[in-house]
Amino acid sequence: MCGIVGYIGKKQAAPILLDGLKKLEYRGYDSAGLAVRADDGEVSVVKAKGRLARLAERTENGALLQGTCGIGHTRWATHGEPSEENAHPHKCMDGSVTVVHNGILENYKELRDKLVRKGYTFHSQTDTEVIANCIDYYYKKYKLGPIDTIARFMMRARGSYALAVLFADCGDAIYVARKDSPMVIGAGRGEMFIASDVPAILKYTKRVYYIENYEMARITREGVEFYNIDREPVEKHAVRVKLDENAAEMGGYEHFMIKEIHEQPRAVELTLNSYLNGEYVDLSECKITDKFLETDEIVVVACGSAYHVGVVMQYVVEKLARIPVRVELASEFRYRDPILGKNALIVAISQSGETADTLAAVREAKARGIRTLAIVNVRGSSIAREADKTIFTYAGPEIAVATTKAYSAQLAVGYLLALEWARIGGRVDDVQCAAYIAELRNLPQKIEKILENKQSVQKFAAENSTVNDVFMIGRGVDYAACLEGALKLKEVSYVHTEAYAAGELKHGTISLIENGTLVLGVLTQSDILEKTASNLEEVKTRGASVVTVSFEGAKIPAEAEYAFTVPGTHELFAASLTVIPLQLLSYYVSLQRGLDVDKPRNLAKSVTVE
Ligand code: G6P
Repeated sequence: MCGIVGYIGKKQAAPILLDGLKKLEYRGYDSAGLAVRADDGEVSVVKAKGRLARLAERTENGALLQGTCGIGHTRWATHGEPSEENAHPHKCMDGSVTVVHNGILENYKELRDKLVRKGYTFHSQTDTEVIANCIDYYYKKYKLGPIDTIARFMMRARGSYALAVLFADCGDAIYVARKDSPMVIGAGRGEMFIASDVPAILKYTKRVYYIENYEMARITREGVEFYNIDREPVEKHAVRVKLDENAAEMGGYEHFMIKEIHEQPRAVELTLNSYLNGEYVDLSECKITDKFLETDEIVVVACGSAYHVGVVMQYVVEKLARIPVRVELASEFRYRDPILGKNALIVAISQSGETADTLAAVREAKARGIRTLAIVNVRGSSIAREADKTIFTYAGPEIAVATTKAYSAQLAVGYLLALEWARIGGRVDDVQCAAYIAELRNLPQKIEKILENKQSVQKFAAENSTVNDVFMIGRGVDYAACLEGALKLKEVSYVHTEAYAAGELKHGTISLIENGTLVLGVLTQSDILEKTASNLEEVKTRGASVVTVSFEGAKIPAEAEYAFTVPGTHELFAASLTVIPLQLLSYYVSLQRGLDVDKPRNLAKSVTVE
């Protein structure tokens, strides 16, 4: 959460910083700010509450800030309400240190109290202003220069941070430091860039350095020097990233969310093709051997939609491979001292590869000597680097805050792993494996077919956009799809939506059903379809309007006011298709309600705080 950028070169910094922040707005968007150092050393700060567009307006697209060295920030508030005062950059008391920060300084109260005793005053409620003053304090006390100062701060700081700092009396240079929050440094010709994420600087350079935890760097026009916390120089080499800068553009679509919904056939196809070799799953690209996968206990850890992928995996893996699977919210797993057998395998799923809780879960497992396997979309991300093995999804950059294509690509990897575990355990033979794979290869065109028919969902959304309460019910993988569908509708449309295992609704929640409540049933699992149909009858009797999502041609023993169908597939893979109308529904209801579908209120795409 929060995005940071930096530029030092020969061009005017402010327009480049604004451009970079635009690509990072998905990380937070309640306020934004820039600090630019003029040729005479004066650092000017401009901030604005609200979206980045306000900051652009206030600075006349950057023209009002003159200087070729600067830092910028887009905020997702943690400490202190969204306001201009709490927006970054923050200066220390006498203005000689300017800081942007992504993360949370956990011991900020203790440090603030100490600084107040030393005579420092504060103007905001943020932990970042404490960082600025703390750095200033050590800088003036020890007089050993910026790297020593930042190292001293790092030794006292608890929590997470990616920091970019300007020192008024240290010439044109940006100092950065990192612990548990992402940061990359881009190298151009006579110019250098900093960003929380690669897409923010792709337009300018594809050569990037990754800075590790507890490392610092001094960045000038000539290049970058890295240091460890002991102030010793660290040698690093830039890597060439392969991302396409246009992948993070809207490409003619009205919103990123609908663009990314439409990119799902491609994302699934690319992901499958990367790990399929004819009729076999081939994970050799990821250096994953049968021995690595052999396990009698799989624990999936993830947050949000990635957790929902884990729920699908639980059904699919247990059915196909007969290995017990536990799915855990990473935020719970990390603190509950979980019991794990020595032969357990942790599967961490994350689009960004930076979600703080998922990363912590990986570290917790590794500390206990348990193998970790990550399913990640962003290359070079922390989880990808720290897990023992990583399978990358090929969804490309996902910009809309609500995930769609990354979720679908993660599901594809989940199916492939299920098949691998089934093969290793002797649960499927070559012929069965080939049949499953043939069906998986059909998924992209089936998703395409659902998208071609999106008008029916659009029409339904237009007619039902004022609904107050929605319940989504299903059994097995249908329930898992409901979890994801309900999250989508809540996050982008602000409609109160609950996903329920169809059999569980009557244990309390059914008391919320009244005239006009919308109940959407997902029914693809033939052996339990009638049971869910009966549950739909129960809510209909109590006044609910019933909608169904099922396979084309399937006989659904429930009368619905509206019926969506998706092409048939193997029942275990159904979530990949049933989720599509639910994503579309969320998108169109959000549009009908006039909401900002790509940047829903209070959210951030990459959650790098606990
Ligand atoms: C945020 C996003 C969700 C995402 C979750 C986990 O809450 O808004 O869409 O599912 O984080 O993110 P990850 O990057 O770990 O998949």
